[in-house]
Amino acid sequence: MNGMVTGWRLVGLLGLMLTAMAAVLAIAASTDVEAARLVIRWTARTSLVLFLLAFVASALARLAPGAGSQALIGRRPALGLGFAISHGWHLAGILALAYLDPVLFGQLTNPVTIGSGVIAYLFIAAMAATSSDRAVRWLGAANWRRLHMTGSWYLFLSFVVAFGKRAVVNTDYVPAMILLALALALKVAAAYKTRTNARCAVAE
Ligand code: HEM
Repeated sequence: MNGMVTGWRLVGLLGLMLTAMAAVLAIAASTDVEAARLVIRWTARTSLVLFLLAFVASALARLAPGAGSQALIGRRPALGLGFAISHGWHLAGILALAYLDPVLFGQLTNPVTIGSGVIAYLFIAAMAATSSDRAVRWLGAANWRRLHMTGSWYLFLSFVVAFGKRAVVNTDYVPAMILLALALALKVAAAYKTRTNARCAVAE
Protein backbone atom coordinates (compact mmCIF):
# COMPACT_ATOMS: atom_id res chain seq x y z
CA MET A 1 0.00 0.00 0.00
CA ASN A 2 3.04 2.23 0.44
CA GLY A 3 3.10 5.03 -2.10
CA MET A 4 -0.54 4.50 -3.03
CA VAL A 5 -3.05 7.32 -2.71
CA THR A 6 -5.45 6.91 0.21
CA GLY A 7 -7.75 8.91 2.49
CA TRP A 8 -8.06 12.68 2.08
CA ARG A 9 -5.34 12.68 -0.60
CA LEU A 10 -7.48 10.40 -2.71
CA VAL A 11 -10.56 12.57 -2.07
CA GLY A 12 -8.54 15.65 -3.12
CA LEU A 13 -7.22 13.92 -6.24
CA LEU A 14 -10.69 12.74 -7.26
CA GLY A 15 -12.11 16.21 -6.59
CA LEU A 16 -9.43 17.81 -8.78
CA MET A 17 -9.92 15.31 -11.61
CA LEU A 18 -13.71 15.70 -11.56
CA THR A 19 -13.45 19.49 -11.48
CA ALA A 20 -10.95 19.43 -14.37
CA MET A 21 -13.28 17.15 -16.35
CA ALA A 22 -16.23 19.51 -15.78
CA ALA A 23 -14.08 22.50 -16.84
CA VAL A 24 -12.83 20.77 -20.02
CA LEU A 25 -16.38 19.75 -20.99
CA ALA A 26 -17.63 23.29 -20.38
CA ILE A 27 -14.83 24.76 -22.53
CA ALA A 28 -15.24 22.18 -25.31
CA ALA A 29 -19.03 22.64 -25.61
CA SER A 30 -20.31 25.01 -28.28
CA THR A 31 -23.14 26.45 -26.13
CA ASP A 32 -23.78 26.88 -22.41
CA VAL A 33 -26.75 24.49 -22.59
CA GLU A 34 -24.58 21.84 -24.26
CA ALA A 35 -21.94 22.39 -21.56
CA ALA A 36 -24.50 21.79 -18.80
CA ARG A 37 -25.78 18.64 -20.53
CA LEU A 38 -22.26 17.27 -21.06
CA VAL A 39 -21.42 17.86 -17.40
CA ILE A 40 -24.67 16.12 -16.33
CA ARG A 41 -24.00 13.10 -18.59
CA TRP A 42 -20.31 12.58 -17.83
CA THR A 43 -20.69 13.07 -14.09
CA ALA A 44 -23.48 10.45 -14.13
CA ARG A 45 -20.86 8.03 -15.52
CA THR A 46 -18.00 8.98 -13.16
CA SER A 47 -20.52 8.75 -10.31
CA LEU A 48 -21.48 5.23 -11.38
CA VAL A 49 -17.87 3.99 -11.37
CA LEU A 50 -17.00 5.56 -7.98
CA PHE A 51 -20.28 4.43 -6.44
CA LEU A 52 -19.92 0.83 -7.64
CA LEU A 53 -16.32 0.54 -6.37
CA ALA A 54 -17.48 1.53 -2.88
CA PHE A 55 -20.69 -0.53 -3.19
CA VAL A 56 -18.94 -3.85 -4.02
CA ALA A 57 -15.88 -3.46 -1.76
CA SER A 58 -17.22 -5.53 1.16
CA ALA A 59 -18.66 -8.22 -1.15
CA LEU A 60 -15.29 -8.55 -2.92
CA ALA A 61 -13.49 -8.78 0.43
CA ARG A 62 -15.78 -11.65 1.44
CA LEU A 63 -15.54 -13.49 -1.90
CA ALA A 64 -11.86 -12.87 -2.62
CA PRO A 65 -10.03 -11.91 0.58
CA GLY A 66 -6.60 -10.47 -0.13
CA ALA A 67 -4.54 -7.34 -0.55
CA GLY A 68 -6.59 -6.05 -3.50
CA SER A 69 -9.98 -6.22 -1.83
CA GLN A 70 -8.54 -4.89 1.46
CA ALA A 71 -7.08 -1.92 -0.43
CA LEU A 72 -10.54 -1.24 -1.84
CA ILE A 73 -12.17 -1.52 1.61
CA GLY A 74 -9.58 0.93 3.01
CA ARG A 75 -10.45 3.42 0.28
CA ARG A 76 -14.22 3.02 0.59
CA PRO A 77 -14.82 6.28 2.52
CA ALA A 78 -12.68 8.23 0.00
CA LEU A 79 -14.48 6.61 -2.96
CA GLY A 80 -17.84 7.45 -1.34
CA LEU A 81 -16.78 11.09 -0.94
CA GLY A 82 -15.46 11.09 -4.53
CA PHE A 83 -18.89 9.88 -5.64
CA ALA A 84 -20.52 12.70 -3.61
CA ILE A 85 -18.25 15.27 -5.34
CA SER A 86 -19.06 13.77 -8.75
CA HIS A 87 -22.77 13.97 -8.01
CA GLY A 88 -22.25 17.50 -6.71
CA TRP A 89 -21.13 18.39 -10.25
CA HIS A 90 -24.16 16.49 -11.61
CA LEU A 91 -26.32 18.80 -9.48
CA ALA A 92 -24.38 21.88 -10.66
CA GLY A 93 -25.07 20.82 -14.28
CA ILE A 94 -28.77 20.24 -13.46
CA LEU A 95 -29.15 23.68 -11.84
CA ALA A 96 -27.32 25.34 -14.76
CA LEU A 97 -29.57 23.58 -17.30
CA ALA A 98 -32.74 24.46 -15.34
CA TYR A 99 -31.63 28.12 -15.31
CA LEU A 100 -30.41 28.32 -18.93
CA ASP A 101 -33.21 26.36 -20.62
CA PRO A 102 -36.17 25.70 -18.31
CA VAL A 103 -38.28 24.37 -21.20
CA LEU A 104 -35.72 21.70 -22.16
CA PHE A 105 -35.19 20.90 -18.47
CA GLY A 106 -38.96 20.31 -18.16
CA GLN A 107 -38.87 17.99 -21.19
CA LEU A 108 -35.94 15.94 -19.79
CA THR A 109 -37.39 15.53 -16.29
CA ASN A 110 -40.73 15.06 -14.54
CA PRO A 111 -41.99 15.53 -10.94
CA VAL A 112 -41.33 11.85 -10.09
CA THR A 113 -37.69 11.89 -11.24
CA ILE A 114 -37.13 15.22 -9.46
CA GLY A 115 -38.75 13.91 -6.24
CA SER A 116 -36.79 10.65 -6.24
CA GLY A 117 -33.63 12.57 -7.17
CA VAL A 118 -34.06 14.94 -4.21
CA ILE A 119 -34.35 11.91 -1.89
CA ALA A 120 -31.16 10.49 -3.46
CA TYR A 121 -29.33 13.76 -2.82
CA LEU A 122 -30.51 13.78 0.82
CA PHE A 123 -29.03 10.28 1.22
CA ILE A 124 -25.78 11.36 -0.48
CA ALA A 125 -25.47 14.38 1.85
CA ALA A 126 -26.26 12.32 4.96
CA MET A 127 -23.83 9.55 3.96
CA ALA A 128 -21.04 12.00 3.07
CA ALA A 129 -21.53 13.91 6.33
CA THR A 130 -21.29 10.68 8.34
CA SER A 131 -18.35 9.04 6.58
CA SER A 132 -16.00 9.19 9.57
CA ASP A 133 -15.29 7.10 12.66
CA ARG A 134 -16.52 9.99 14.79
CA ALA A 135 -19.90 9.89 13.02
CA VAL A 136 -20.12 6.12 13.64
CA ARG A 137 -19.62 6.74 17.38
CA TRP A 138 -22.09 9.65 17.36
CA LEU A 139 -24.86 7.76 15.49
CA GLY A 140 -24.16 4.33 16.98
CA ALA A 141 -22.94 1.48 14.80
CA ALA A 142 -26.43 0.04 14.16
CA ASN A 143 -27.96 3.39 13.07
CA TRP A 144 -24.92 4.21 10.96
CA ARG A 145 -25.19 0.86 9.21
CA ARG A 146 -28.94 1.34 8.67
CA LEU A 147 -28.38 4.75 7.06
CA HIS A 148 -25.54 3.61 4.80
CA MET A 149 -27.24 0.32 3.80
CA THR A 150 -30.56 2.00 2.96
CA GLY A 151 -28.83 4.88 1.18
CA SER A 152 -26.55 2.70 -0.91
CA TRP A 153 -29.37 0.41 -2.06
CA TYR A 154 -31.55 3.45 -2.84
CA LEU A 155 -28.70 4.91 -4.92
CA PHE A 156 -28.14 1.55 -6.62
CA LEU A 157 -31.82 1.51 -7.64
CA SER A 158 -31.61 5.15 -8.78
CA PHE A 159 -28.78 4.19 -11.15
CA VAL A 160 -30.73 1.13 -12.39
CA VAL A 161 -33.76 3.31 -13.20
CA ALA A 162 -31.77 6.25 -14.69
CA PHE A 163 -29.58 4.07 -16.94
CA GLY A 164 -32.26 1.39 -17.49
CA LYS A 165 -34.82 3.75 -19.01
CA ARG A 166 -32.17 5.00 -21.42
CA ALA A 167 -30.80 1.50 -22.18
CA VAL A 168 -34.18 0.33 -23.51
CA VAL A 169 -34.03 2.96 -26.28
CA ASN A 170 -30.25 3.38 -26.72
CA THR A 171 -27.73 0.51 -26.60
CA ASP A 172 -24.93 2.95 -25.58
CA TYR A 173 -26.31 2.57 -22.05
CA VAL A 174 -26.09 -1.24 -22.00
CA PRO A 175 -22.48 -1.34 -20.59
CA ALA A 176 -23.65 0.66 -17.55
CA MET A 177 -26.47 -1.86 -17.02
CA ILE A 178 -23.97 -4.75 -17.28
CA LEU A 179 -21.79 -3.13 -14.58
CA LEU A 180 -24.86 -2.73 -12.35
CA ALA A 181 -25.87 -6.38 -12.93
CA LEU A 182 -22.32 -7.57 -12.10
CA ALA A 183 -22.34 -5.54 -8.87
CA LEU A 184 -25.67 -7.07 -7.89
CA ALA A 185 -24.35 -10.57 -8.66
CA LEU A 186 -21.32 -9.93 -6.41
CA LYS A 187 -23.56 -8.76 -3.57
CA VAL A 188 -25.83 -11.79 -3.89
CA ALA A 189 -22.88 -14.22 -4.06
CA ALA A 190 -21.25 -12.64 -0.98
CA ALA A 191 -24.52 -12.81 1.00
CA TYR A 192 -24.92 -16.47 -0.03
CA LYS A 193 -21.35 -17.25 1.07
CA THR A 194 -21.92 -15.56 4.44
CA ARG A 195 -25.14 -17.54 5.01
CA THR A 196 -23.56 -20.84 3.98
CA ASN A 197 -20.54 -20.23 6.28
CA ALA A 198 -22.87 -19.35 9.17
CA ARG A 199 -24.87 -22.57 8.63
CA CYS A 200 -21.67 -24.65 8.54
CA ALA A 201 -20.47 -22.98 11.77
CA VAL A 202 -23.78 -23.87 13.48
CA ALA A 203 -23.63 -27.47 12.20
CA GLU A 204 -20.04 -27.98 13.40
C1 HEM B 1 -33.17 16.08 -8.58
C2 HEM B 1 -32.26 15.20 -8.98
C3 HEM B 1 -31.88 14.98 -10.42
C4 HEM B 1 -32.24 15.64 -11.56
C5 HEM B 1 -33.18 16.83 -11.72
C6 HEM B 1 -31.54 15.00 -12.67
C7 HEM B 1 -31.60 15.43 -13.98
C8 HEM B 1 -30.99 14.82 -15.04
C9 HEM B 1 -31.11 15.22 -16.40
C10 HEM B 1 -31.90 16.43 -16.90
C11 HEM B 1 -30.43 14.34 -17.15
C12 HEM B 1 -30.34 14.31 -18.70
C13 HEM B 1 -29.22 15.15 -19.22
C14 HEM B 1 -29.22 15.17 -20.73
O1 HEM B 1 -29.71 14.24 -21.39
O2 HEM B 1 -28.72 16.13 -21.28
C15 HEM B 1 -29.85 13.36 -16.25
C16 HEM B 1 -29.09 12.30 -16.64
C17 HEM B 1 -28.74 11.27 -15.81
N1 HEM B 1 -28.87 11.24 -14.44
FE1 HEM B 1 -29.64 12.68 -13.27
N2 HEM B 1 -30.78 13.97 -12.18
C18 HEM B 1 -30.97 13.89 -10.81
C19 HEM B 1 -30.41 12.99 -9.95
C20 HEM B 1 -29.79 11.84 -10.36
C21 HEM B 1 -29.40 10.75 -9.47
C22 HEM B 1 -29.60 10.75 -7.96
C23 HEM B 1 -28.83 9.79 -10.26
C24 HEM B 1 -28.24 8.46 -9.88
C25 HEM B 1 -27.97 8.08 -8.68
C26 HEM B 1 -28.86 10.27 -11.63
C27 HEM B 1 -28.38 9.58 -12.70
C28 HEM B 1 -28.44 10.03 -14.01
C29 HEM B 1 -28.00 9.24 -15.14
C30 HEM B 1 -27.44 7.83 -15.09
C31 HEM B 1 -28.18 10.03 -16.28
C32 HEM B 1 -27.86 9.65 -17.72
C33 HEM B 1 -26.51 10.16 -18.08
C34 HEM B 1 -26.14 9.84 -19.50
O3 HEM B 1 -26.88 10.23 -20.42
O4 HEM B 1 -25.10 9.20 -19.70
N3 HEM B 1 -29.42 11.52 -11.63
N4 HEM B 1 -30.20 13.69 -14.96
